[in-house]
Amino acid sequence: MDKQAVLQELDRVLGYIESDSLTKEECDTISADTIYNYDHYFNPGWMPFRKSCTPDGATIEWSDTPEHINDVYGTPYIDLIGGFGTYICGHRNPEILRYVKKQMDRLTLSSTELIEPLRGYLSKILSMITPGDLQYAYLTNGGAEAVEMALKLAVLRKGPGYFISTVHGFHGKSMGAVSMTGNPAFRAPYLPMIQQVQHVEFGNADALETAIKNLKAVGEKVTAFIVEPVQGEAGCRVPPVGYLKAVRDICDKYDVLFIADEIQTGLGRTGYLWRCNMENVTPDIMTFGKVSSGGIVPITGIMSRPDVFEKSGLIDNPFILGSPTFGGNALACSSTLGTINYILRNDIPKMAADKGAYFMKTLTKIRDNHHILSELRDAGLLIAMEFETAEIGWEVSKEIFARNVLVAGTLNNARVIRIEPPAILSYENIDRSLEVIDEAITAVEKRL
Ligand SMILES: Cc1ncc(COP(=O)(O)O)c(C=O)c1O
Repeated sequence: MDKQAVLQELDRVLGYIESDSLTKEECDTISADTIYNYDHYFNPGWMPFRKSCTPDGATIEWSDTPEHINDVYGTPYIDLIGGFGTYICGHRNPEILRYVKKQMDRLTLSSTELIEPLRGYLSKILSMITPGDLQYAYLTNGGAEAVEMALKLAVLRKGPGYFISTVHGFHGKSMGAVSMTGNPAFRAPYLPMIQQVQHVEFGNADALETAIKNLKAVGEKVTAFIVEPVQGEAGCRVPPVGYLKAVRDICDKYDVLFIADEIQTGLGRTGYLWRCNMENVTPDIMTFGKVSSGGIVPITGIMSRPDVFEKSGLIDNPFILGSPTFGGNALACSSTLGTINYILRNDIPKMAADKGAYFMKTLTKIRDNHHILSELRDAGLLIAMEFETAEIGWEVSKEIFARNVLVAGTLNNARVIRIEPPAILSYENIDRSLEVIDEAITAVEKRL
């Protein structure tokens, strides 16, 4: 190690972080450095998949305001991706940030020995706001980690056996989570993974019942069924009304645990505080994430019913499930408490429902006028635009980006473009975004 060189580099970078305003030369340097560093030290394959990167350069993210991401030169982009559902309260919402700043000046992570009050308060509040008798919280750092813990808790309660999941479902990319995920692109390189997993058609409760019956008929045990109440990553696939209720009944009938993965749908996104609330259903285990960080300090977790938790062996041996060093740290808890407060006080679920409906009114007209936009699907502010081909979707997402609006869609995944903006997005910015989407689709259609 050339210590002098490292310290010199650190001085420069920390100087950028400390700086309140960057000169044009500094912005140029940061842009060039970032491209070089990604290519040489992160992953040379990363940038070619991004519409924000072209052979002429790349758009470098530097700051944000509630409705925008700004590049390093200060150009704002209206954020319609919302961190794939993370920023429902907007970016660095001051009503959340104020608590995080206070907490940061007091205690950030945890001693890991003493008992920390915010973890206790958050666990209590979570049990108050989650469906039915979900009571015990287990706090983690990322979505996949939460799913891992949900699967492990199910095994602790019911013993090993089959997991049933859904085709096209997404539950993360760690080994257990990707075993449940139903997208071959993410699974294929790792096969065989967890062996006892069967995927059934999403939205089809009969398919679930048949799978359970068949497995039991040949002497297998079935531990749990895991499902997203609305499939997010798969492109906002909404099951028929009554699906979750039917799933609950089937799981009860065959003594199988029901795990609802609300990581993307939870905390207001679909117009309900939890999507399970729509059908008045209580899963045995529920995962949450994304929104819960307030877009500030990452936190995820699971909630479980008393019967599941208390009979899992976790009271006799609390460390057998996991003991993440950072899970449920004080800073993340302050962020989540502030976020829940903001969501409840401002009725974010209603805001998501209203603004989702507003988006859909114009998007429907756009779809009727443009054949390349073949389908729209929506659940509150989780909206998917499906194009005739992935290539067309990619061209549209680039045109939208060129007009300073940020939507999802990468070179290898653009047939369906998801819109998951902050619920606090102003009607003025929604109108501008819809105008841009229309212009972009028109431009691509003309070229074709
Ligand atoms: C439903 C669902 N489960 C799990 C995950 C994985 O979360 P993470 O990316 O934080 O690991 C995601 C992420 O998109 C998700 O949408």
